[in-house]
Amino acid sequence: MVFEVNKICCIGAGYVGGPTMSVIADKCPHIKVNVVDRNQSRISAWNDENLSNLPIYEPGLKTIIRRCRNKNLFFSINIKKHISEADMIFISVNTPTKTKGIGAGQASDLKWIEACAREIGKYAKGETIVVEKSTLPVRTAETIKLILTSVEKPGEDFLGSEKKFFILSNPEFLAEGTAINDLEKPDRVLIGGEDNKSVESLRQIYLNWVDEEKILTTDLWSSELSKLIANAFLAQRVSSINSISALCEVTQANVNEVAKAIGMDSRIGKYFLKSGPGFGGSCFKKDILNLVYICNHYGLSEVAEYWEKVISINNWQKKRITKVILDKMFTNISGKKVAIFGFSFKSNTNDTRESPAISICKDLIEEGCYLSIFDPKVTRDQIILDLEMNPAENEDSSNIIGKWDYAESIDDAIKGADAIVILSDWDDFYNLDYITIIQLMRKPSWIFDTRNVVDIQAAKESGFNVWSLGNSNI
Ligand code: NAD
Ligand code: UGA
Repeated sequence: MVFEVNKICCIGAGYVGGPTMSVIADKCPHIKVNVVDRNQSRISAWNDENLSNLPIYEPGLKTIIRRCRNKNLFFSINIKKHISEADMIFISVNTPTKTKGIGAGQASDLKWIEACAREIGKYAKGETIVVEKSTLPVRTAETIKLILTSVEKPGEDFLGSEKKFFILSNPEFLAEGTAINDLEKPDRVLIGGEDNKSVESLRQIYLNWVDEEKILTTDLWSSELSKLIANAFLAQRVSSINSISALCEVTQANVNEVAKAIGMDSRIGKYFLKSGPGFGGSCFKKDILNLVYICNHYGLSEVAEYWEKVISINNWQKKRITKVILDKMFTNISGKKVAIFGFSFKSNTNDTRESPAISICKDLIEEGCYLSIFDPKVTRDQIILDLEMNPAENEDSSNIIGKWDYAESIDDAIKGADAIVILSDWDDFYNLDYITIIQLMRKPSWIFDTRNVVDIQAAKESGFNVWSLGNSNI
């Protein structure tokens, strides 16, 4: 027994809502998918005729949008209409860390989730399946259910007959940069719910392209919690290998060799063992902070402290990059020019949320140097927002203005620079033409490679001093 699902509405046209709904529309031509958002400019960008202006950059996304948009995939700001017509509604809005009040700096801010629940409670008609796609604290479904069933029937706005809601948890595991591949070939799809008919209805949608054995069904709370724990475990691996990168540098070991040797043990596994400047992205930090908050809430302070360390090591890793640069460049970078290669939090995305580049660039500017920043996809306006417009608490961003510029190309960034700092692993930074670029730089010239993309020997033969993260043989 399943509910007939002809129309899906997804609230939130962001990094998750956009790609996820595009893939559902592509794989299920019989379903009409409406992605709604209250951000008019974001919706306009999704509807832009020029596919290069889509609001997010994700390999493979344009092709799907070209195939489905205005056929069975639509982007709109008419939230009320599409909620009222939908058989199934995905909530895919942001759930950032609270910045004020109780739990500030740790707990998730659920105001956008609550706003969605209120809109759904008000405008949905008949029987509606509500799917939590956003990452949420465990037991949020309880809150959503309470709101959905308590929202008063509005007067003239009331559109519907008897309402009934079924709540499912269906967390998203895609990673940015590989989102389309992750959605088309997921390791698993997780569906948590209490009502078999609605769980089966969502399972049937995924069965259009996902193997049966990859679709797990659980209770609501295990599903909600599994998402937080998956991110915590992934981030923990990155912090583990990053801590070892520092040990390798002082013991003449090589972090890549260590990662390979341990990763070949099938119990450890080879993925997520690449050391770098610290993990970034919108979710790892916020989800661990939320986990820490939940553990403290339930009185599990030892568990909370354990997970908090994953974030401390990450902060330490970011800080130590600047210290290394300073030490190597004769403890003085004041008045020097440093070219930054890569500003996004990883390659193949234009997303800069929590990018390690933000704090590393601020630290370098604090030391008095001038930055020239190049990234293949991040715009100048985004970097202005990240460096100048959103100062952290007690931070004065006025000393950042005029201390950096935006480079249109690698050549543009390195002219007259004393050093290159590689912060994300875009393809453009592998196989650099060291012989040509060193001629445009001031001597002695340095490369600081936090992503292990540099051909150390070739760079050294061209005259560079090279520092490569987790590698002391240089
Ligand atoms: P995002 O900020 O890119 O997009 C969220 C969108 O929701 C925004 O466009 C915002 O305008 C819209 N929105 C907020 N409240 C709304 C409302 N009441 N009505 C209509 N629109 C509203 O966020 P994202 O990166 O897509 O993340 C969404 C959720 O998915 C988060 O919980 C996140 O933790 C989770 N998640 C993210 C990723 C990722 O790679 N970014 C992966 C897995 C899970
Ligand atoms: C991560 C998870 O991988 C997804 O499964 C999850 O759905 C998503 O968070 C989320 O909930 O938002 P994402 O943040 O997009 O995806 O990207 P990752 O590939 O996980 O990278 C996160 C950060 O860790 C990046 O800064 C990356 O450079 C860093 N990283 C990752 C390393 O430094 N080393 C590694 O081996 C892997």
